[in-house]
Amino acid sequence: MAKLTVRDLNVNGKRVFMRVDYNVPLDEKDGQMVITDETRIKETLPTLRLLIEKGARLILAAHLGRPKGKREPSMSLRPVAARLAELLGCKVNFADDCIGEKVEKLAKELPPGGILLLENVRYYNEEEANDPAFAEKLAKVADVYVNDAFGAAHRAHASTEGVARIVAKRGGQCAAGLLMERELKFLGDELDKPARPFVVILGGAKVSDKIKVIDRLLDKADTILIGGAMAYTFKLAQGFKVGQSLVEKDKTDVALAALDKAKKRGVQFLLPTDNTCVTPVKTDKLDKKGRPVLDLTNPRTNADANIPDSEEGVDIGPATAAKYGEVLRSAKTVLWNGPMGIFEDKRFAVGTNAVAQAVVDATQKNGAKTIIGGGDSVKALNKAGLGDKVTFMSTGGGASLEFLEGAVLPGVAALSEK
Ligand code: 3PG
Repeated sequence: MAKLTVRDLNVNGKRVFMRVDYNVPLDEKDGQMVITDETRIKETLPTLRLLIEKGARLILAAHLGRPKGKREPSMSLRPVAARLAELLGCKVNFADDCIGEKVEKLAKELPPGGILLLENVRYYNEEEANDPAFAEKLAKVADVYVNDAFGAAHRAHASTEGVARIVAKRGGQCAAGLLMERELKFLGDELDKPARPFVVILGGAKVSDKIKVIDRLLDKADTILIGGAMAYTFKLAQGFKVGQSLVEKDKTDVALAALDKAKKRGVQFLLPTDNTCVTPVKTDKLDKKGRPVLDLTNPRTNADANIPDSEEGVDIGPATAAKYGEVLRSAKTVLWNGPMGIFEDKRFAVGTNAVAQAVVDATQKNGAKTIIGGGDSVKALNKAGLGDKVTFMSTGGGASLEFLEGAVLPGVAALSEK
């Protein structure tokens, strides 16, 4: 990577403005907000420890949720400050704002090795607007800029991009944190020159979400395995019946183009040959978004290429899981993004779990580098208790996807060259 990293910095006594991605899931419990997954906090600890050791005065900035410019109490970063202090085993000061005199005073009082976490930057609309005046206000406490927020690096916001530009203009250094460095290494460099066979497994609901990634990976992969609801759009494009399954009818041309490109490039492109089907039945309940809730009844394995009109595909079937497992176990590089079915319901998590186990086996028994591209596949691996058994799990969601598509991430572009 040609970008400056925290390893290159001499920050003794300097104020380091560090952008982190502490956009963690929270649940209300007895009137308190409780963090339900602290992965993103833990993953920043190596960078924080290194900078503390180097005597930096650390000012951490982050967003939480999408409060749209309002001080939404349920989206305060205060619980994160408390948990961070426990994890680091040292005091973490908290400022209940991210700009202004109070923040400047707290930053001034920070001793070398001290930490201050600022309140949610998205309490101001100017953050997402990348407002230059707001970025200047944030930058008031920044001698050096560090970005360890890979998960937010696809956003050109004030704290992810604007502040870096200001610090650089003043002649200050802008460096990648250790997490950012690892994310770019595994999702970037490692996949640019993969050990072969390079097997990509893509799932999730929509072809439209993944088509740019598919297109780019068709230039690199030896095999692409498709699962999740997007497989049904491919099936429909090939002329099969998909019943009530989730499909994008207007994306069949895109699916056919991908199949055609795979053929021309000699990439093995596999679609499910069987699936788990259910019969959806209407209930009188509505979900949080006001949509009717369907009961998914009578799960069964459907080994036919067509799905009956009254049924819906919700997972890959056992023959597909076995075939995908065989391909994955002989891979030397694996990239996985997207579950194979509705894994949140354990009846339909079988295919996703089988793939997860095959990815772990490839890592442990075949010495493969296995890279999980963030989002639901990370959730699924963690749910199966296999999270620590793969080579790398990205902390990004949208950022991972955009990076895999080949996009230049604004939060990375703004960092200084080595
Ligand atoms: C994420 O959770 O993917 C990142 O923190 C970015 O959040 P956003 O999609 O609200 O910008």
